[in-house]
Amino acid sequence: MQYVQFGKTDMKVSRLCLGTMTFSDQLDLDASRSVVDEAIERGVNFIDTAESYKDSEEFLGKILEGRRDKIFLATKVYRQRAGEQHGRNSRENITHSLERSLRLLQTDHVDLYQLHHPDPHTRLDETLDVLDHFVKQGKIRYVGVCNHYAWQMSAMIERAQRFGWDPIVSIQARYNVLDRAIEMETVPMATRYDLAIMAYAPIGSGLLGGKYKRNQPIPAGSRGKEDAKLQKRLTEPKLFDALERLELIAQRNKLTLPQLAILWMLAKPYITTPIIGGSKPEHFRAIYDIADTRLSDADVSEIDTLSAEFIYRPFQNQAMKEGAPLAEQ
Ligand SMILES: NC(=O)c1ccc[n+]([C@@H]2O[C@H](COP(=O)([O-])OP(=O)(O)OC[C@H]3O[C@@H](n4cnc5c(N)ncnc54)[C@H](OP(=O)(O)O)[C@@H]3O)[C@@H](O)[C@H]2O)c1
Repeated sequence: MQYVQFGKTDMKVSRLCLGTMTFSDQLDLDASRSVVDEAIERGVNFIDTAESYKDSEEFLGKILEGRRDKIFLATKVYRQRAGEQHGRNSRENITHSLERSLRLLQTDHVDLYQLHHPDPHTRLDETLDVLDHFVKQGKIRYVGVCNHYAWQMSAMIERAQRFGWDPIVSIQARYNVLDRAIEMETVPMATRYDLAIMAYAPIGSGLLGGKYKRNQPIPAGSRGKEDAKLQKRLTEPKLFDALERLELIAQRNKLTLPQLAILWMLAKPYITTPIIGGSKPEHFRAIYDIADTRLSDADVSEIDTLSAEFIYRPFQNQAMKEGAPLAEQ
Protein backbone atom coordinates (compact mmCIF):
# COMPACT_ATOMS: atom_id res chain seq x y z
CA MET A 1 0.00 0.00 0.00
CA GLN A 2 1.26 3.47 -0.84
CA TYR A 3 0.71 6.45 1.49
CA VAL A 4 0.26 10.08 0.47
CA GLN A 5 0.06 13.47 2.11
CA PHE A 6 -3.57 14.51 2.53
CA GLY A 7 -3.51 17.89 0.81
CA LYS A 8 -1.97 20.62 2.96
CA THR A 9 -2.55 18.71 6.22
CA ASP A 10 0.20 16.93 8.11
CA MET A 11 -1.66 13.61 7.72
CA LYS A 12 -0.48 10.70 5.60
CA VAL A 13 -3.27 8.48 4.34
CA SER A 14 -3.34 5.27 2.34
CA ARG A 15 -3.62 5.84 -1.39
CA LEU A 16 -6.83 3.79 -1.27
CA CYS A 17 -9.70 5.04 0.87
CA LEU A 18 -12.34 2.50 1.88
CA GLY A 19 -15.85 3.63 0.85
CA THR A 20 -18.69 2.34 3.01
CA MET A 21 -21.81 3.43 1.13
CA THR A 22 -22.89 -0.22 0.72
CA PHE A 23 -22.54 -1.02 4.45
CA SER A 24 -25.97 -1.96 5.90
CA ASP A 25 -27.39 -1.79 2.39
CA GLN A 26 -25.78 -4.58 0.35
CA LEU A 27 -23.32 -5.66 3.08
CA ASP A 28 -24.62 -6.79 6.48
CA LEU A 29 -22.70 -6.23 9.72
CA ASP A 30 -20.58 -9.40 9.42
CA ALA A 31 -19.69 -8.74 5.79
CA SER A 32 -18.92 -5.08 6.58
CA ARG A 33 -16.70 -6.16 9.45
CA SER A 34 -14.78 -8.54 7.19
CA VAL A 35 -14.33 -5.75 4.62
CA VAL A 36 -12.88 -3.41 7.27
CA ASP A 37 -10.69 -6.15 8.78
CA GLU A 38 -9.22 -6.96 5.39
CA ALA A 39 -8.76 -3.30 4.49
CA ILE A 40 -6.76 -2.67 7.66
CA GLU A 41 -4.75 -5.86 7.11
CA ARG A 42 -3.89 -4.66 3.59
CA GLY A 43 -2.72 -1.27 4.88
CA VAL A 44 -5.79 0.96 4.46
CA ASN A 45 -5.97 3.65 7.17
CA PHE A 46 -8.60 5.89 5.57
CA ILE A 47 -12.37 5.23 5.70
CA ASP A 48 -15.17 7.34 4.22
CA THR A 49 -18.79 7.23 5.37
CA ALA A 50 -21.77 9.62 5.54
CA GLU A 51 -24.79 10.16 7.69
CA SER A 52 -26.91 9.39 4.62
CA TYR A 53 -25.48 5.87 4.06
CA LYS A 54 -28.24 4.03 5.95
CA ASP A 55 -26.62 2.51 9.09
CA SER A 56 -23.05 2.73 7.83
CA GLU A 57 -21.93 5.08 10.63
CA GLU A 58 -23.46 2.83 13.27
CA PHE A 59 -21.80 -0.24 11.71
CA LEU A 60 -18.43 1.53 11.71
CA GLY A 61 -18.85 2.57 15.34
CA LYS A 62 -19.19 -1.11 16.27
CA ILE A 63 -16.55 -2.41 13.86
CA LEU A 64 -13.87 0.14 14.82
CA GLU A 65 -14.31 -0.30 18.57
CA GLY A 66 -10.83 -0.51 20.10
CA ARG A 67 -9.04 0.52 16.88
CA ARG A 68 -10.63 3.85 16.00
CA ASP A 69 -7.28 5.63 16.44
CA LYS A 70 -5.69 3.67 13.59
CA ILE A 71 -8.08 5.23 11.09
CA PHE A 72 -8.40 8.63 9.42
CA LEU A 73 -12.19 8.71 9.56
CA ALA A 74 -14.29 10.85 7.23
CA THR A 75 -18.02 11.45 7.31
CA LYS A 76 -20.47 13.94 5.81
CA VAL A 77 -23.39 16.14 6.75
CA TYR A 78 -26.34 15.63 4.44
CA ARG A 79 -29.68 15.28 6.16
CA GLN A 80 -32.15 18.08 6.10
CA ARG A 81 -34.60 17.00 8.70
CA ALA A 82 -38.26 17.02 7.68
CA GLY A 83 -40.43 19.84 8.94
CA GLU A 84 -37.52 22.13 9.79
CA GLN A 85 -36.74 25.38 8.07
CA HIS A 86 -32.97 24.98 8.18
CA GLY A 87 -30.64 24.41 5.24
CA ARG A 88 -28.56 21.25 5.44
CA ASN A 89 -25.37 23.26 6.00
CA SER A 90 -26.95 25.57 8.59
CA ARG A 91 -25.65 25.97 12.14
CA GLU A 92 -28.62 24.07 13.51
CA ASN A 93 -28.37 21.20 11.05
CA ILE A 94 -24.60 20.75 11.26
CA THR A 95 -24.69 20.82 15.06
CA HIS A 96 -27.37 18.15 15.15
CA SER A 97 -25.78 16.00 12.45
CA LEU A 98 -22.26 16.14 13.86
CA GLU A 99 -23.39 15.16 17.37
CA ARG A 100 -25.38 12.28 15.90
CA SER A 101 -22.41 11.10 13.77
CA LEU A 102 -20.06 11.20 16.77
CA ARG A 103 -22.50 9.15 18.81
CA LEU A 104 -23.04 6.53 16.09
CA LEU A 105 -19.34 6.34 15.22
CA GLN A 106 -18.55 6.00 18.96
CA THR A 107 -15.83 8.63 18.78
CA ASP A 108 -15.12 12.09 20.18
CA HIS A 109 -13.90 13.50 16.86
CA VAL A 110 -14.17 13.10 13.11
CA ASP A 111 -10.89 13.44 11.19
CA LEU A 112 -12.56 14.86 8.08
CA TYR A 113 -16.04 16.39 8.22
CA GLN A 114 -17.44 17.06 4.76
CA LEU A 115 -20.35 19.04 3.37
CA HIS A 116 -22.01 16.39 1.21
CA HIS A 117 -23.47 19.05 -1.10
CA PRO A 118 -23.57 22.84 -1.38
CA ASP A 119 -26.57 24.41 0.32
CA PRO A 120 -28.21 27.25 -1.60
CA HIS A 121 -30.38 28.12 1.44
CA THR A 122 -27.66 28.88 3.97
CA ARG A 123 -25.15 31.72 4.06
CA LEU A 124 -21.66 30.41 3.46
CA ASP A 125 -20.39 32.44 6.42
CA GLU A 126 -22.78 30.64 8.77
CA THR A 127 -21.55 27.25 7.53
CA LEU A 128 -17.86 28.16 7.78
CA ASP A 129 -18.30 29.71 11.21
CA VAL A 130 -20.01 26.67 12.72
CA LEU A 131 -17.46 24.27 11.19
CA ASP A 132 -14.64 26.40 12.61
CA HIS A 133 -16.35 26.33 16.02
CA PHE A 134 -16.28 22.52 16.04
CA VAL A 135 -12.66 22.43 14.83
CA LYS A 136 -11.73 24.64 17.81
CA GLN A 137 -13.66 22.30 20.12
CA GLY A 138 -11.67 19.34 18.75
CA LYS A 139 -14.74 17.54 17.40
CA ILE A 140 -13.63 18.03 13.80
CA ARG A 141 -10.00 17.75 12.77
CA TYR A 142 -10.29 18.95 9.17
CA VAL A 143 -13.09 20.31 6.99
CA GLY A 144 -13.80 19.11 3.44
CA VAL A 145 -16.48 19.36 0.78
CA CYS A 146 -18.05 17.08 -1.82
CA ASN A 147 -19.78 17.87 -5.12
CA HIS A 148 -18.82 21.54 -5.13
CA TYR A 149 -17.83 23.43 -8.24
CA ALA A 150 -14.41 25.10 -8.27
CA TRP A 151 -15.95 28.57 -8.03
CA GLN A 152 -17.92 27.56 -4.95
CA MET A 153 -14.73 26.34 -3.27
CA SER A 154 -12.95 29.55 -4.28
CA ALA A 155 -15.65 31.55 -2.50
CA MET A 156 -15.21 29.39 0.62
CA ILE A 157 -11.44 29.79 0.60
CA GLU A 158 -11.72 33.55 0.23
CA ARG A 159 -14.25 33.92 3.07
CA ALA A 160 -12.32 31.58 5.38
CA GLN A 161 -9.12 33.54 4.75
CA ARG A 162 -10.82 36.85 5.37
CA PHE A 163 -12.40 35.83 8.69
CA GLY A 164 -9.74 33.43 9.96
CA TRP A 165 -11.97 30.36 9.84
CA ASP A 166 -10.49 26.92 9.42
CA PRO A 167 -10.01 26.34 5.68
CA ILE A 168 -11.35 23.46 3.59
CA VAL A 169 -8.63 20.90 2.86
CA SER A 170 -10.31 18.51 0.43
CA ILE A 171 -12.85 17.97 -2.32
CA GLN A 172 -14.62 14.65 -2.86
CA ALA A 173 -15.79 14.44 -6.46
CA ARG A 174 -17.09 11.92 -8.93
CA TYR A 175 -14.26 10.82 -11.20
CA ASN A 176 -13.53 7.82 -13.37
CA VAL A 177 -12.46 6.90 -16.90
CA LEU A 178 -16.03 7.47 -18.13
CA ASP A 179 -16.62 10.74 -16.27
CA ARG A 180 -13.73 13.19 -16.36
CA ALA A 181 -15.59 16.49 -15.86
CA ILE A 182 -13.46 17.51 -12.87
CA GLU A 183 -10.34 17.75 -15.03
CA MET A 184 -11.67 21.05 -16.43
CA GLU A 185 -11.82 23.16 -13.27
CA THR A 186 -11.72 21.16 -10.06
CA VAL A 187 -8.34 19.55 -10.65
CA PRO A 188 -6.46 22.75 -11.59
CA MET A 189 -8.05 24.57 -8.67
CA ALA A 190 -7.27 21.82 -6.17
CA THR A 191 -3.69 21.72 -7.39
CA ARG A 192 -3.35 25.50 -7.05
CA TYR A 193 -4.71 25.49 -3.47
CA ASP A 194 -3.19 22.17 -2.42
CA LEU A 195 -6.57 20.58 -1.74
CA ALA A 196 -6.72 16.79 -1.49
CA ILE A 197 -8.92 15.18 -4.15
CA MET A 198 -10.90 12.10 -3.12
CA ALA A 199 -12.34 10.43 -6.22
CA TYR A 200 -15.66 8.70 -5.66
CA ALA A 201 -17.28 6.20 -8.05
CA PRO A 202 -13.87 5.21 -9.48
CA ILE A 203 -15.54 2.23 -11.18
CA GLY A 204 -18.30 4.46 -12.53
CA SER A 205 -20.75 3.15 -9.91
CA GLY A 206 -20.30 -0.27 -11.50
CA LEU A 207 -20.22 0.76 -15.19
CA LEU A 208 -16.57 -0.33 -15.23
CA GLY A 209 -17.32 -3.50 -13.25
CA GLY A 210 -17.38 -5.64 -16.40
CA LYS A 211 -20.99 -6.76 -16.10
CA TYR A 212 -22.71 -4.46 -18.60
CA LYS A 213 -22.51 -5.56 -22.24
CA ARG A 214 -23.77 -3.91 -25.43
CA ASN A 215 -27.34 -4.99 -26.35
CA GLN A 216 -27.59 -7.23 -23.27
CA PRO A 217 -30.18 -6.79 -20.50
CA ILE A 218 -28.99 -5.10 -17.30
CA PRO A 219 -27.97 -7.98 -14.99
CA ALA A 220 -30.13 -8.71 -11.94
CA GLY A 221 -28.58 -7.61 -8.64
CA SER A 222 -26.43 -4.89 -10.24
CA ARG A 223 -26.68 -1.22 -9.26
CA GLY A 224 -27.77 -0.49 -12.83
CA LYS A 225 -31.02 -2.37 -12.19
CA GLU A 226 -32.11 0.26 -9.64
CA ASP A 227 -30.29 3.44 -10.67
CA ALA A 228 -32.01 5.59 -13.31
CA LYS A 229 -28.84 7.62 -14.02
CA LEU A 230 -26.88 4.46 -14.78
CA GLN A 231 -29.72 3.17 -16.95
CA LYS A 232 -29.58 6.39 -18.99
CA ARG A 233 -25.84 6.05 -19.48
CA LEU A 234 -26.28 2.44 -20.55
CA THR A 235 -28.17 3.69 -23.62
CA GLU A 236 -25.06 5.53 -24.93
CA PRO A 237 -23.31 3.62 -27.75
CA LYS A 238 -20.10 5.61 -27.10
CA LEU A 239 -20.01 4.20 -23.56
CA PHE A 240 -19.80 0.66 -24.95
CA ASP A 241 -17.25 1.75 -27.57
CA ALA A 242 -15.01 2.86 -24.70
CA LEU A 243 -15.77 -0.18 -22.51
CA GLU A 244 -14.88 -2.62 -25.29
CA ARG A 245 -11.56 -0.87 -25.93
CA LEU A 246 -10.81 -0.80 -22.21
CA GLU A 247 -11.56 -4.55 -21.95
CA LEU A 248 -8.85 -5.19 -24.56
CA ILE A 249 -6.29 -3.14 -22.61
CA ALA A 250 -7.27 -4.96 -19.41
CA GLN A 251 -6.90 -8.39 -21.03
CA ARG A 252 -3.53 -7.43 -22.50
CA ASN A 253 -2.35 -6.56 -18.96
CA LYS A 254 -4.01 -9.60 -17.30
CA LEU A 255 -6.25 -7.29 -15.29
CA THR A 256 -9.99 -7.09 -14.75
CA LEU A 257 -11.79 -3.95 -15.92
CA PRO A 258 -12.23 -2.57 -12.34
CA GLN A 259 -8.52 -3.14 -11.67
CA LEU A 260 -7.61 -1.28 -14.87
CA ALA A 261 -9.92 1.61 -13.93
CA ILE A 262 -8.24 1.99 -10.53
CA LEU A 263 -4.71 1.70 -11.91
CA TRP A 264 -5.47 4.42 -14.47
CA MET A 265 -6.56 6.64 -11.58
CA LEU A 266 -3.55 5.79 -9.42
CA ALA A 267 -1.39 7.00 -12.32
CA LYS A 268 -2.88 10.50 -11.85
CA PRO A 269 -0.76 12.38 -9.31
CA TYR A 270 -3.52 14.94 -8.70
CA ILE A 271 -5.81 12.23 -7.27
CA THR A 272 -4.98 11.86 -3.60
CA THR A 273 -7.13 8.79 -3.16
CA PRO A 274 -9.73 6.83 -5.06
CA ILE A 275 -12.56 5.80 -2.71
CA ILE A 276 -13.13 2.16 -3.43
CA GLY A 277 -16.60 0.66 -3.26
CA GLY A 278 -18.18 -2.75 -3.64
CA SER A 279 -21.29 -4.81 -3.13
CA LYS A 280 -19.23 -7.89 -2.19
CA PRO A 281 -16.05 -8.29 -0.11
CA GLU A 282 -14.20 -9.66 -3.16
CA HIS A 283 -14.74 -6.37 -5.02
CA PHE A 284 -12.49 -4.60 -2.48
CA ARG A 285 -9.99 -7.47 -2.36
CA ALA A 286 -9.49 -7.33 -6.15
CA ILE A 287 -8.25 -3.75 -5.80
CA TYR A 288 -5.78 -4.41 -2.94
CA ASP A 289 -4.27 -7.12 -5.13
CA ILE A 290 -3.08 -4.55 -7.69
CA ALA A 291 -2.53 -1.55 -5.38
CA ASP A 292 1.24 -1.75 -5.63
CA THR A 293 1.46 -2.26 -9.39
CA ARG A 294 1.32 0.39 -12.11
CA LEU A 295 0.23 0.76 -15.70
CA SER A 296 2.76 1.66 -18.38
CA ASP A 297 2.78 5.29 -19.54
CA ALA A 298 1.69 4.05 -22.98
CA ASP A 299 -1.40 2.33 -21.52
CA VAL A 300 -2.34 5.39 -19.44
CA SER A 301 -2.00 7.57 -22.49
CA GLU A 302 -4.12 5.20 -24.61
CA ILE A 303 -6.87 5.28 -21.96
CA ASP A 304 -6.63 9.09 -21.74
CA THR A 305 -7.17 9.32 -25.49
CA LEU A 306 -10.03 6.87 -25.79
CA SER A 307 -11.90 8.48 -22.89
CA ALA A 308 -11.18 12.12 -23.79
CA GLU A 309 -14.79 12.83 -24.75
CA PHE A 310 -15.92 12.03 -21.21
CA ILE A 311 -14.08 15.07 -19.86
CA TYR A 312 -17.00 17.33 -20.65
CA ARG A 313 -19.89 15.56 -18.92
CA PRO A 314 -21.65 17.95 -16.53
CA PHE A 315 -21.87 16.98 -12.87
CA GLN A 316 -24.80 14.60 -12.49
CA ASN A 317 -25.98 15.44 -9.04
CA GLN A 318 -25.60 19.17 -8.83
CA ALA A 319 -27.42 21.16 -11.47
CA MET A 320 -25.83 24.57 -12.07
CA LYS A 321 -29.27 26.20 -11.69
CA GLU A 322 -29.19 25.34 -7.97
CA GLY A 323 -26.97 28.37 -7.61
CA ALA A 324 -24.28 29.36 -5.19
CA PRO A 325 -24.42 29.28 -1.46
CA LEU A 326 -24.93 32.88 -0.31
CA ALA A 327 -21.71 34.46 0.81
CA GLU A 328 -22.93 37.57 2.58
CA GLN A 329 -26.05 38.77 4.32
N1 LIG B 1 -19.61 12.24 -1.90
C1 LIG B 1 -20.50 11.66 -2.66
O1 LIG B 1 -21.46 12.31 -3.13
C2 LIG B 1 -20.34 10.19 -2.94
C3 LIG B 1 -21.20 9.57 -3.88
C4 LIG B 1 -21.03 8.20 -4.12
C5 LIG B 1 -20.04 7.50 -3.46
N2 LIG B 1 -19.22 8.12 -2.54
C6 LIG B 1 -18.17 7.38 -1.81
O2 LIG B 1 -17.39 6.65 -2.74
C7 LIG B 1 -17.42 5.26 -2.43
C8 LIG B 1 -17.37 4.47 -3.70
O3 LIG B 1 -18.47 4.82 -4.54
P1 LIG B 1 -19.13 3.77 -5.49
O4 LIG B 1 -19.58 2.59 -4.69
O5 LIG B 1 -20.12 4.47 -6.35
O6 LIG B 1 -17.83 3.33 -6.33
P2 LIG B 1 -17.54 2.44 -7.59
O7 LIG B 1 -16.31 1.71 -7.25
O8 LIG B 1 -17.55 3.28 -8.81
O9 LIG B 1 -18.76 1.43 -7.70
C9 LIG B 1 -18.84 0.33 -6.87
C10 LIG B 1 -19.80 -0.66 -7.49
O10 LIG B 1 -19.23 -1.18 -8.68
C11 LIG B 1 -19.49 -2.57 -8.77
N3 LIG B 1 -18.18 -3.23 -8.62
C12 LIG B 1 -17.15 -2.85 -7.85
N4 LIG B 1 -16.13 -3.71 -7.98
C13 LIG B 1 -16.52 -4.63 -8.83
C14 LIG B 1 -15.90 -5.79 -9.37
N5 LIG B 1 -14.65 -6.14 -9.03
N6 LIG B 1 -16.61 -6.53 -10.23
C15 LIG B 1 -17.86 -6.19 -10.57
N7 LIG B 1 -18.50 -5.09 -10.10
C16 LIG B 1 -17.83 -4.33 -9.25
C17 LIG B 1 -20.42 -2.90 -7.60
O11 LIG B 1 -21.75 -2.62 -8.03
P3 LIG B 1 -22.89 -3.71 -8.25
O12 LIG B 1 -22.31 -5.05 -7.93
O13 LIG B 1 -23.98 -3.33 -7.31
O14 LIG B 1 -23.27 -3.53 -9.67
C18 LIG B 1 -20.02 -1.86 -6.59
O15 LIG B 1 -20.96 -1.62 -5.60
C19 LIG B 1 -18.70 5.08 -1.61
O16 LIG B 1 -18.66 3.93 -0.77
C20 LIG B 1 -18.71 6.35 -0.81
O17 LIG B 1 -17.83 6.24 0.30
C21 LIG B 1 -19.37 9.45 -2.30
